[in-house]
Amino acid sequence: MTQHHVTEDRKRDHLDICATQDVAFRAGTLLDQVGLVHDAIPELAWSDLDTSTELLGKRLSAPIVISSMTGGTPEAARFNRALARVAERHRIGLALGSQRIMLEHDGAQDGFLLRDLAPTTLLLGNLGAVQARRLSREEIADRLVAPCGLDGLCLHLNVAQELFQAEGDRDFRDLEMTIRRLVDELPVPVIVKETGCGISRDVGERLRRLGVAWLDVAGAGGTSFVAVETVRRQRDDGLGATFREWGIPTAASLCQVSGLGAHVIASGGIETGLDITRALALDATAAGVARPFLKAYRQHGESGVEAYLGTLVEGLKIAMMLTGCRTPSALRGISWVCGADLLPWLEGGTPVANRARIPQVSR
Ligand SMILES: Cc1cc2nc3c(=O)[nH]c(=O)nc-3n(C[C@H](O)[C@H](O)[C@H](O)COP(=O)(O)O)c2cc1C
Repeated sequence: MTQHHVTEDRKRDHLDICATQDVAFRAGTLLDQVGLVHDAIPELAWSDLDTSTELLGKRLSAPIVISSMTGGTPEAARFNRALARVAERHRIGLALGSQRIMLEHDGAQDGFLLRDLAPTTLLLGNLGAVQARRLSREEIADRLVAPCGLDGLCLHLNVAQELFQAEGDRDFRDLEMTIRRLVDELPVPVIVKETGCGISRDVGERLRRLGVAWLDVAGAGGTSFVAVETVRRQRDDGLGATFREWGIPTAASLCQVSGLGAHVIASGGIETGLDITRALALDATAAGVARPFLKAYRQHGESGVEAYLGTLVEGLKIAMMLTGCRTPSALRGISWVCGADLLPWLEGGTPVANRARIPQVSR
């Protein structure tokens, strides 16, 4: 089997497994531990609410990005095109799935070339940091970034996933060097993104020292790639169950990276407008959502994606009204009540920690 056939098979499996199997973390994101305080007198009309947000130089109608999922197979191309049309119509961001297959196989280009369908909105590329180690500036800039007209490139970190993949990498050296090189060399901003295990304060600090300005925490609580790869390999040695819950919950990761001076995208288990609101209260600039969009597409096609997005935005607006916040940036300044399970993840001195009200809890 050639490399691109292996990659195509994996992409097909990921879409099928994520759409049909129970691969969510059993434990949550801890976003329910972010207590937003009800404002009974918001002094706002519905029409005053303004969800628009600037993200990586693009003005979006709401702080929402469809997170990286796929590309490179005929089904993936159809899915990406539907996502691109919805993203453009509603001016939200769209991130492509890993573009590695574009370098392996000319026929894979199709599902990634979406600028004709999404000429104006935010479009982000995607590549594994592990795979990027072996790629030159020219390969990435000239063969992935330029043809797709990308506004930024997500470099994903996925150690847990690679370890559970039969064909996965086992060597995670030189990733920092690769990230620094690409931040320096690429013509577009680099967003360093996890894939469901979150980013700690220590890793956030290391990334900041490498010059990374954008982080996507992709924390635990949504799709578990240990679960996905375990289903895929039909592995029954118990290791999948042991590590299924591995990772930093999304809310915990947001607390950890707050105050590092990075722009943060919150993702991993974001499903509702209230989740987005809580993530913004933890200083995220925007939220990323992956599997819920896939499920909506598999159920009702492009109109399902559109309907789900509509519910997300409406939920965000309701939560903005109920907290008396007219804009997403107002949400980023509010104080909130910290639940006992999130408390151990707060780092003193960060903006979110300073705004967290910590009730006396007896446990
Ligand atoms: C079908 C599928 C494929 C994915 N492929 C990629 C990928 O190629 N690159 C990447 O960085 N993340 C990938 N992810 C991870 C998501 O971008 C996201 O970080 C993760 O699923 C958590 O978000 P969720 O809980 O909203 O699904 C994929 C997720 C899904 C569901």
